[in-house]
Amino acid sequence: MKPEVVMIGLGYIGLPTAALIASNKVFVYGVDINSDVVETINRGEIHIVEPELDSAVANAVKNGFLKAGLKAQEANTYLIVVPTPFKDKNEPDISFVEAATIGILPLLKENDLYIIESTSPVGTTEKMMNYIYAERPELEGKLHIAYCPERVLPGNVMHELVHNDRVIGGVNKESTDRALAFYKNYVKGELHATNARTAEMCKLVENSSRDVQIAFANELSLICHKAGINVWELIKLANKHPRVNILQPGSGVGGHCIAVDPYFIVADFPMESQIIGKAREINNYKSFWCAEQVKNAKLQFQLDHGKKPKIALMGLAFKPNIDDLRESPAKYIAQKVLQDAQDEEYYIVEPNIQEHKVFKLTEYNKAAENADIIVFLVAHNQFKYLTNLNSKIVLDFCGISQNKL
Ligand SMILES: NC(=O)c1ccc[n+]([C@@H]2O[C@H](COP(=O)([O-])OP(=O)(O)OC[C@H]3O[C@@H](n4cnc5c(N)ncnc54)[C@H](O)[C@@H]3O)[C@@H](O)[C@H]2O)c1
Repeated sequence: MKPEVVMIGLGYIGLPTAALIASNKVFVYGVDINSDVVETINRGEIHIVEPELDSAVANAVKNGFLKAGLKAQEANTYLIVVPTPFKDKNEPDISFVEAATIGILPLLKENDLYIIESTSPVGTTEKMMNYIYAERPELEGKLHIAYCPERVLPGNVMHELVHNDRVIGGVNKESTDRALAFYKNYVKGELHATNARTAEMCKLVENSSRDVQIAFANELSLICHKAGINVWELIKLANKHPRVNILQPGSGVGGHCIAVDPYFIVADFPMESQIIGKAREINNYKSFWCAEQVKNAKLQFQLDHGKKPKIALMGLAFKPNIDDLRESPAKYIAQKVLQDAQDEEYYIVEPNIQEHKVFKLTEYNKAAENADIIVFLVAHNQFKYLTNLNSKIVLDFCGISQNKL
């Protein structure tokens, strides 16, 4: 049977999307360059942590609506959901999108729908369109080409894929309409039509907006530290104003979206994106500052007690209660602190993963019990239950002590 949809990239976004479409009894052929990923999915299993995804994939594979392979097959709709990281100097890297497009180039035929979901710099969809038509000139104007960004929250992906609103922008009106008709089959949230460039920028702006707001909170935390003010209390009080809503500070900003996407704007619009660029700097600086605070606390302990402290670094993930370490400020801080390690004993804690190839992990209760200095880097729920910390030196960069359960 010929697939109806080809999904290129079977990661955190591509696989749940493929499973959702397949659960509607549409045959999806998933493509990934990673053979482990392909084999795992074809066994009806998953390689990522995401609630409800295991049963969705198992059912889709068992019912014959989802199959994976290393090479694309002919279909009517192609979805590109591959990574879009950044290179040195914070330039966006769209080589994965280009490679995925090259992979389907010979398969494309008149009336096909080609959609990019990967977060992309403005103009990427038009660039891919120009590339496709340069290589396949007989198809010029005969394909439907659109951009539709994803805005799901890891941990709630299966629900949000269906219920979130989507922004859909085609390279022309026919493409937008055709992409809208496609998503209407699977999405219950509202579908908002626009053009490809606006849809691309919309995704970048959503994450930049979060980054700027967190930078404001992080900047306040630095100011308050110097001014001897509890930043958590300050923000709570300021937010009593009916039109003020300041976010919470932390040990920086991480993940492969908020910590990455703003650079896609800054790289293309360096003169104009002053606040966006500065927010990235502030959030990165906050992580550096946290590492410095740990080093200072270590030296102070030595001076006060005449011995090296035992230090617990609590959390490595980029945000609370997940196992994802990509672009994690906590991981950066741990690396930075360990670079300067002398004879101190360190306990590295991340309760959401079993092991790490660089860090030797310690169980969180044991680490907290044994450490002289406890550094809260991520507000994991487990840490909120810890007691008997009064005799310890606590560096709380993520508000654990303010939000005890
Ligand atoms: N994860 C999120 O929460 C999230 C949210 C919104 C948007 N996005 C965006 O969605 C895109 C995909 O993100 P993700 O988190 O799913 O990434 P991911 O790294 O989890 O998965 C991408 C997959 O694509 C595969 N791949 C790479 N090149 C390929 C190619 N040429 N052909 C076939 N497969 C290929 C990789 O092996 C990997 O399995 C990115 O642009 C990301 O910024 C992610």
